[in-house]
Amino acid sequence: MITTEADPGNPTPRTPDDVPGWFWKADQQVFDWLLDRQTAAGTTGDILELGTYLGRSAILLGGHLGPGETLTVCDLFDSDAPDDDNSAEMSMSYRHTLTRRAFEANYLAFHRRLPTVIQAPTSVLADGRIPAGSCRFVHVDASHLYEHVADDIQVARAALGPNGLVSLDDYRSEHTPGVAAAVWQAVFDHGLRPVCLTPEKFYGTWGDAEAARHELCTRDWRAEGYRMDEETIAGHTVHRLAWDEPAGPAPQPPRRSTTRRLALDLLPPIATRALRRRLAAR
Ligand SMILES: C[S@@+](CC[C@H](N)C(=O)[O-])C[C@H]1O[C@@H](n2cnc3c(N)ncnc32)[C@H](O)[C@@H]1O
Repeated sequence: MITTEADPGNPTPRTPDDVPGWFWKADQQVFDWLLDRQTAAGTTGDILELGTYLGRSAILLGGHLGPGETLTVCDLFDSDAPDDDNSAEMSMSYRHTLTRRAFEANYLAFHRRLPTVIQAPTSVLADGRIPAGSCRFVHVDASHLYEHVADDIQVARAALGPNGLVSLDDYRSEHTPGVAAAVWQAVFDHGLRPVCLTPEKFYGTWGDAEAARHELCTRDWRAEGYRMDEETIAGHTVHRLAWDEPAGPAPQPPRRSTTRRLALDLLPPIATRALRRRLAAR
C-alpha cells in the first residue's frame, strides 16, 4: 500500500462526501447504478476520468473496478494550464486548494492503490495512450472551455468500448456555455446519444442508448424520492432525473415577545406608532 504523509491542510476524509468537490447525490447514485449494472451484465472495461480535482468522484469510480480493470485519472493538479483562458479558470476555481498530493492522500483514504495518474492537460490523451475501445465508463469533468471539452468528448468516444457510457459535467450551467455547445454538438454532429440528464451531468453513449435507458429504469427512482421525467429531444428519448432535498418546515416569521405584541395590539394607534418608533430605534 502506498502512503502519503498527513497534510495538516487536508485532514483525512472519513467519507467521500468529506472530500471537497462537485459530485452530488443524484450523480453519485447514477454512477453507482450504471456501473453496477454493467458489472452485473458482464460488461468489463477500464474507467477514465478527465478532471479529478481532490478525488471526490474518482474515489467512487475506483470502488467499481473489477479484476483486471484500471482507473486512469487525468488532471493538471499543480501543473500549468495549456493556455491563458484555462489558466484563468484554474486560478479562479482550483489553484488555492488543489495539489496532486492532496488528491492522492484523499484517494488512499479509501483505496489500497492509486489509480494511474496522468498529470497533464487532457489534450495529451489524444495521442492514443488510452487504448481505443478499452473503457466502459468515461467521466469528463476537466476544463469548461468549448475547444477543450469538444476534444475531451472525442477522447471519450475513442476510449469507450461498445455500449460504453460517458458522463459530461456542467452541460447546462450558467457559467459553462462552452460545455453546453460541445455536448449538444456531439449529439447533433457526432452520433452521441443521450441517456439521462441530471441537473449537473449529461449521460450518453455511442452505443445502444435504448438498452442503457432500460438499465437506468430498472430502478424505481421515483419511489426513492427522485423526480424523473421523460423528454424527447430531436428524436432522442431521454430521462431527466433530479434529487430534491426534502423540504424542511416553512420558515417562521420572527416571534415578537408577548408583552410587545400585547402593547402593539392594545394601545391606541398614536401610542402604538410612538411605541413602534421607540422599538425600531433600539
Ligand atoms: C470541476 S473540477 C473536477 C471535479 C471532480 N471531478 C469532482 O467531482 O470533485 C475540474 C478539474 O479539471 C482540472 N482541469 C482543468 N482544466 C484542465 C485541463 N486542460 N486538463 C486537465 N485537467 C484540467 C482542474 O485542475 C480541476 O481539478
